[in-house]
Amino acid sequence: MNSHSSAPHLRIFPDEQQAAVFAATVIESRIRARAAEGKFAVLGLATGQTPLAVYRELVRRHRTNGLSFQNVITFNLDEYCGLPPEHPQSYRFFMERELFSQIDIAPEHTHIPDGMGTAAEHAVRCRKYEAAIRAAGGIDLQILGIGRTGHIGFNEPPAGPETRTRCVELNALTLADNARFFGAEESVPRQAVTMGVGTILEAKEILLLAFGEKKADVVARALQETPAEECPASWLQQHPRCTWLVDAAAGAKLAEENFSQ
Ligand code: GLP
Repeated sequence: MNSHSSAPHLRIFPDEQQAAVFAATVIESRIRARAAEGKFAVLGLATGQTPLAVYRELVRRHRTNGLSFQNVITFNLDEYCGLPPEHPQSYRFFMERELFSQIDIAPEHTHIPDGMGTAAEHAVRCRKYEAAIRAAGGIDLQILGIGRTGHIGFNEPPAGPETRTRCVELNALTLADNARFFGAEESVPRQAVTMGVGTILEAKEILLLAFGEKKADVVARALQETPAEECPASWLQQHPRCTWLVDAAAGAKLAEENFSQ
């Protein structure tokens, strides 16, 4: 651990399911606390394989424990450029399938960057996305995964804490990792719209999830190296309320004694 940052909160779970249940419990408690005050809870949501078990657990709690999402507003991190909402690989489609269609959230309370349109349209919409987050009072709790390039959202290296919602080029490793969803690497969109590192760092609380041995190297870099643009997730070291939830495989390369559990 370097001397530039305070110890991040880290929890290592025996498996992904237990980490997902923990994350769902934090999300539920923030939603219920806001509901008790008669207020909205603003959640930042992620896509990819990693948060799927969390979404399944939230759906289960909605069905069996009466967890309501009527007081929830969501902002997703990112969307591929050029994929319409009805495209099965778009992140809008993913969120509808995995979460929104299975809970009682109002459709108008769910926000995902719009990947369609020209560069000029993106620039306007990205500013509006940031304004909408501010108008909702900011993100109370942001859920994150991490890419093997060190990306959070689609903030590929280099990306620093000054970056805001914008259109970005995807890294070759990310294109290769996401080829499995598109059948072939050539079919993966080359660009995406993503919240910036700076946008993410403004969330009041963050939970980053990482599972499996493929994430072990990047988790160790992000937590143990000095924050730098080469590993965008490393900026999370500077966030006062960011907790990393990892399984044993993803935490295997960490020097555990450096972290507060
Ligand atoms: C994706 C997303 C990220 C996600 C990451 C890891 O492409 N844009 O938000 O965290 O890459 O994906 P996975 O969870 O499938 O490993």
